[in-house]
Amino acid sequence: MANKPLYIQKAAQLVTLQGSSDAPLRKEEMEQLQIIEDGSVWIEDGLIQSVDTDAEIQKRYASRLNEAEIVNARGKLVTPGLVDPHTHIVFAGSRESEFELRLKGATYMEIMNAGGGIHSTTSATRNASHEQLYEESWKRLDQFLRHGVTTVEAKSGYGLSMEHEIKQLEVAQQLNRDHTIDIVSTFMGAHAVPADYKERPDDFVDEVIQKMLPEVARRELAEFNDVFCERGVFTPDQSRRILEAGKKWGLLPKIHADEIEPYRGAELAAEVGAVSADHLLRASDVGIQAMADQGVVAVLLPGTAFFLMAEMANGRKMVDTGVPVALSTDCNPGSSPTVSLPFIMNLGCLKMGMTPAEVLTATTINAAHAIRRGHEIGSLEKGKKADLVIFDVPNYMGLQYSYGSNHTQTVIKNGRVVYRRDEV
Ligand code: NIG
Ligand code: FE
Repeated sequence: MANKPLYIQKAAQLVTLQGSSDAPLRKEEMEQLQIIEDGSVWIEDGLIQSVDTDAEIQKRYASRLNEAEIVNARGKLVTPGLVDPHTHIVFAGSRESEFELRLKGATYMEIMNAGGGIHSTTSATRNASHEQLYEESWKRLDQFLRHGVTTVEAKSGYGLSMEHEIKQLEVAQQLNRDHTIDIVSTFMGAHAVPADYKERPDDFVDEVIQKMLPEVARRELAEFNDVFCERGVFTPDQSRRILEAGKKWGLLPKIHADEIEPYRGAELAAEVGAVSADHLLRASDVGIQAMADQGVVAVLLPGTAFFLMAEMANGRKMVDTGVPVALSTDCNPGSSPTVSLPFIMNLGCLKMGMTPAEVLTATTINAAHAIRRGHEIGSLEKGKKADLVIFDVPNYMGLQYSYGSNHTQTVIKNGRVVYRRDEV
């Protein structure tokens, strides 16, 4: 039997972002939220049927109003479900002691080069069973949902061997099937050079290219291929080889670029036609311009800069240069152990000079484009998936003004109410 229609009614502000499905928004487009006041949404079969003022919806569906399940959004803000386009959620263990070491002066790269950091999480993840990883990651997904997130990207990269990279990707695939949140998978075998390849990193690059990428593609375990291009990890040349090889298998390039040091990562992203370049704390002006020219989405991760006590990426400059900007948590146990995309949005405003409207665009439609889902999610338009959030604030600015809080009241995924704050 078909589900009842769902009628989300009378939002003080309904942020639709209409007309943005074909390409990410740039420059002043990022401020145009296409808000409907006293707005309503009519949903059937998991899809949005109509988005309009409440008066129009009442007229249009007059004969069917008593069939529908009604959700009252009076006085509140309704937005598209938030999209997190860069996470490392499938991992085991945690790294509190490294956090303390960093607070005492050690750097992220020193800890990694001494065998900790990504290597530490790799050991814990290799030692964890599929079931353990599934359960730990499930809890993180529940937390994302409570923060209004309805789609996340998830990377492998804590396996660093065929067996364990595949295990991570299979966990993500199963979570995508079982959990309410949709997961989009990225292979990141080139996240670090594993300890046993320390003296011969090019052999590991060959292993990724010749063995792992073909197998991941054959089993259809990922859509994207990412690499940590950073001094002391993978060079731009190694990164280029890995990303080009992935393209031959149909895996679209993404890149961890210019996170710790300037390393021409943004330039490389433009050169290989990456869908996104992520981090970009130290990106050069030339690289930023190249990204704007090629339409590479900048996925900015201010939580990582915050947690590593580093200087933020220049989000303001990127928006003004014409780069389509998205924001993400980078949720991972080392550089950004958070699931709070709303807090990341606060940082986008207060630490990167972006406006409340721009950060909302950056976590909805632009984030959807960063994972090639702009036609399905990220805006409220007829035919799109009915993924929405009701926030308990009177307008879109309230999400940033009243900072550090989780304002998520109700989450709707595929046309069903999946979370209500007061009735968990
Ligand atoms: O995006 N920089 C590389 N990867 C992650 C951190 C991974 C970790 O420290 O476990 C990042 O910051
Ligand atoms: Fe990351």
